[in-house]
Amino acid sequence: MKVFIYGAGRVGRALGRAIQDHPGGELKLCGAWNRTFARAFETSRLLDVEVSAGDAVPDGLMRADVVILSVKDDVVEKTAGALARHLSHRQVLLHTSGSLPAQILDPKGIKAHMGCVHPLQALAHDDGDPRVLQGSFFAVEGDQEALACAERVALVAGGQPVSIASASKVYYHAAAVMAANYQTVLMDAACALMQEAGVDTATAVKMLVPLVSGTLSNLEALAHAEQPPGQGRAVVARALTGPVRRGDVGTVRKHMRAIDKLAKRKPEACADLPALYRALAQRATELAQQAELPPERAQALQKALGRASS
Ligand SMILES: NC(=O)c1ccc[n+]([C@@H]2O[C@H](COP(=O)([O-])OP(=O)(O)OC[C@H]3O[C@@H](n4cnc5c(N)ncnc54)[C@H](OP(=O)(O)O)[C@@H]3O)[C@@H](O)[C@H]2O)c1
Repeated sequence: MKVFIYGAGRVGRALGRAIQDHPGGELKLCGAWNRTFARAFETSRLLDVEVSAGDAVPDGLMRADVVILSVKDDVVEKTAGALARHLSHRQVLLHTSGSLPAQILDPKGIKAHMGCVHPLQALAHDDGDPRVLQGSFFAVEGDQEALACAERVALVAGGQPVSIASASKVYYHAAAVMAANYQTVLMDAACALMQEAGVDTATAVKMLVPLVSGTLSNLEALAHAEQPPGQGRAVVARALTGPVRRGDVGTVRKHMRAIDKLAKRKPEACADLPALYRALAQRATELAQQAELPPERAQALQKALGRASS
């Protein structure tokens, strides 16, 4: 099955390399395209196929069985619309966006099969290293033919395909943003607090990353352990540590007082921290109850959080 990469950014390059390097040869890269010439040229050093640029429809695209459309979200629909005119009923167009449905175009107007293959992974570099995809889950979606192709792409990249229904995809994507992107935002908030402890941001990140890694390892171990059915939230709760989990109300109060003062002193950088801390502590209290935090401790925490925010 021949695959064409349309959009040689971080995802396009990594998928292209993964397909190219796969020893099985069940998928074969037949070409790539990028809007700007400079990036197309760079990509031609990473992929052993012709990489074109510009407005003309690339030859390789017509020869492909599967076209992976890995352009930025804002232009997926427009680009798919322009490409679809050239694609036949034997071809599959897969986009890689987690926030858009597989069927981005009206199926009445196009012949190609439509689908989506979304790597649930944070690709921060554009070096095309395909190892970042290995072991990742891939949300796959689309009509029957597109779904089969999306699954193959995920497997060839060393990932695990998971079918997500179009209607609920927004929750899937919001979950990914919450768990990964906002993890970075939490790190930024933690660094603002570390600064008050006299630790600069670079050092703070170095200090906090092993702590976060430890938490992620705990979650990973729990996720892989045998669980009785329906125990989802209680499992996550077992990875929770810290003052809320222990029911240390005094510590939480002290944090809130200090953060409130900081927000007043440095509103430009810290005005949102009191609400952020309280919202997370509130949810942590509910979670800790799943991990057998005694009800009287939970109530004391709720009261402290409520009082402090009133
Ligand atoms: N990065 C991730 O962690 C990640 C993970 C999963 C899924 N995704 C999804 O994968 C897709 C690509 O993301 P990415 O991270 O690879 O993005 P990226 O590295 O920023 O690359 C974006 C690509 O879109 C092209 N592009 C931008 N504007 C265009 C236009 N007007 N017409 C045609 N092409 C245009 C860029 O071409 P130029 O080089 O010419 O600018 C480039 O090839 C997105 O749908 C994204 O949501 C990303």
